[in-house]
Amino acid sequence: MMLEVSAESEMAIRVTLNGVAREGNATPRMQLADFLRHVLHAYGTHVGCEHGVCGACTVLIDGRAVRTCMMFAIQADGADIQTVEGLASSPDKLTALQSAFQKNHALQCGFCTPGILMSCVQFLAERPQPDEAEIREMLSGHLCRCTGYHGIVEAIKEVVADKSTSSA
Ligand code: FES
Ligand code: FES
Repeated sequence: MMLEVSAESEMAIRVTLNGVAREGNATPRMQLADFLRHVLHAYGTHVGCEHGVCGACTVLIDGRAVRTCMMFAIQADGADIQTVEGLASSPDKLTALQSAFQKNHALQCGFCTPGILMSCVQFLAERPQPDEAEIREMLSGHLCRCTGYHGIVEAIKEVVADKSTSSA
């Protein structure tokens, strides 16, 4: 027997969000970004262009940076999702990357920041010692209207330099 699913039918979606099992309902065409924000109330993930250009909606899904405006919530059923809320254990315990952003004025309005941070997490995990050109190439997938990118590049370079000093 064929299961009929209408555009309005809701389905239960189960994910692990920042280490915690979460569940909510989504219609088949609900974007993952909207599911995270409006169903799971994880408002740290921002939505800008809604068509895969600005990078503001980027999260990690099973460790990979993904634009959540380009994915349906039902495609994330069972996934392990990390959003910006999962980076710092508390507001006074920022990660080295977040502290470097703060110190280097790598944000102004902050709208682009959650997505950039999540891309950086995957980028630095895969490429711990990138040069500036590689950092700029990674950032080319993110639009920031405020900073001119200089502070962002400096923040990432600082994290890279600190890591190489501490492992030397
Ligand atoms: S809102 Fe998803 S890439 Fe812009
Ligand atoms: S800090 Fe405003 S868009 Fe990047």
